[in-house]
Amino acid sequence: MTQLGRLYPMLDSVTLPDNLPYTQVSTWELQFLYLVGRHVLTGDDRIVELGSGGGGSTYALALGLHESPVFDAKTGRLHAYDFFRVGKGTFATEKFFTGGTKPADDNSFLDDFKSRLEPFLPFLEIHAGDLWQTSDPDDHSPVEFLHIDIAKTARVFRCVSERFLTRLRPGSVVLHQDFAGPRLPWLHYSTGALLPYIEIAGPPIRSTLAFEVTRPIPEEVLTAITEDSFPYERKLELISAVQERIDRDHTGGIPFRSVLELAKAYVAHYDGRHRQAWSIARRLTGDEYLARTRADHFKQLRTAYDKEGSPLAKLVRRAVGR
Ligand SMILES: C[S@@+](CC[C@H](N)C(=O)[O-])C[C@H]1O[C@@H](n2cnc3c(N)ncnc32)[C@H](O)[C@@H]1O
Repeated sequence: MTQLGRLYPMLDSVTLPDNLPYTQVSTWELQFLYLVGRHVLTGDDRIVELGSGGGGSTYALALGLHESPVFDAKTGRLHAYDFFRVGKGTFATEKFFTGGTKPADDNSFLDDFKSRLEPFLPFLEIHAGDLWQTSDPDDHSPVEFLHIDIAKTARVFRCVSERFLTRLRPGSVVLHQDFAGPRLPWLHYSTGALLPYIEIAGPPIRSTLAFEVTRPIPEEVLTAITEDSFPYERKLELISAVQERIDRDHTGGIPFRSVLELAKAYVAHYDGRHRQAWSIARRLTGDEYLARTRADHFKQLRTAYDKEGSPLAKLVRRAVGR
């Protein structure tokens, strides 16, 4: 069992403060973050959170570090990356402002973040702005911990891979937020590619998959992840390999095998293969969880398929130039 596996039985005993900043992360995931900070991390190498938002997840992790017997707040650092502002393409919500809405004259919630994280500011290093600008391409220092809650587009995931996954070493710990998001299949097939070099901690905690690196990750694997160069069929195989390792999440609420099957439909969709995408997705429409939570995904895939039409209609469209 990895050191992460030992945290599961402790989850229910964690009580977090009531006044935590607004967060998009569930209580179970916050408890797990706390436990990782409290019992696993040392601060000897970089501790990194990508996508801190209003600071809910940061707070839970920082509290764990603060109460850790080994983390030294004088030398250890928690690096928090985020736009810390709302606006088009940021994936940040106005709820990250302390007042719950954006003031008329300011789109930055950085000051709100700082005031909520006040007790931990001495060991918090804040990197505000677009990750491509705020991360250092020349920093190759080892990363001990990576909380990834930022990779909502393939473009950002490329940065995460190039600048952070390459710095993982045996013993490093990764938490992937939004692993239950079928629209983010790069999280799933990249994890499939990493399987020979990692140990998955246990069932996902709600939407979070946790793993520990157990062997050095070969450079060519990291390059393929960064460049997203896996062929279409290979991506599906890599997701299947993850499906063999995980099913229901820790709380029993999320059926990951079905979620990952729908992620395969998104691999096809992003590859412009709308027929294949819908043929994968339509088989899942009877899945109770997906029907309840992902109706918009089915609609999107069905609409793309309808627009594409049959192979004959496609040929005719091409022939008449529309
Ligand atoms: C799901 S939210 C994070 C939620 C947070 N962990 C919590 O506890 O509520 C995703 C965050 O990623 C940030 N983000 C997305 N793309 C980014 C980028 N390219 N550079 C910096 N931050 C980015 C957004 O600003 C947003 O706050």
